[in-house]
Amino acid sequence: MKTKKIVLFASGSGSNVENIVHFFQNTPNVAISCVLSNRKDAYVLERCNKMNVSALYFNRTAFSASDCVLDILVSLDPDLIVLAGFLWKVPAAIIQKFPNKIVNIHPALLPNYGGKGMYGMKVHEAVKNNRDTETGITIHYVNENYDQGAIILQVKTSILPTDSPETIAKKVHELEYAHFPKTIAKLLEV
Ligand code: GRF
Repeated sequence: MKTKKIVLFASGSGSNVENIVHFFQNTPNVAISCVLSNRKDAYVLERCNKMNVSALYFNRTAFSASDCVLDILVSLDPDLIVLAGFLWKVPAAIIQKFPNKIVNIHPALLPNYGGKGMYGMKVHEAVKNNRDTETGITIHYVNENYDQGAIILQVKTSILPTDSPETIAKKVHELEYAHFPKTIAKLLEV
């Protein structure tokens, strides 16, 4: 059976990347081809060094002002491109080259708390400030607009009045770790 190839993008810590790498380590016909980051000091690159996973850093010119990252993706020929904590908008050229092959995870129930600038603790602080009684994760296809692609999966969790943005973040991360790899496996039909 043909090996299914995943390319991951991350801008920060990379706990989802690490979780996805471990999940597929024992799946014979799935390979994590490469992890790409737009931040040379992103801890995700350190995690990849420790896990012996190929990883590259790119700058904005390579990503959106030239075909550099696009050409790298074409050469990697991924079955799925996974954004796992990646903060830049994906250029139309990449979206058009990989239609319905780019997915993202957002730490809230889109369309709420989505869009430019809504990421990480900013999301959980907004949820807390609005006294919401639930939050969750959204896994969706990526299109030309931030967080507006077709939704693939949403999973909810309750918020208690005693919850802080930090405890909310922990609950949401637990949902991410439980559901993102399995959803990727389903999309790859493995
Ligand atoms: C996650 O909360 C994810 O939902 C969001 O960015 C965060 C990445 O966290 N897109 P990590 O870098 O995987 O730890």
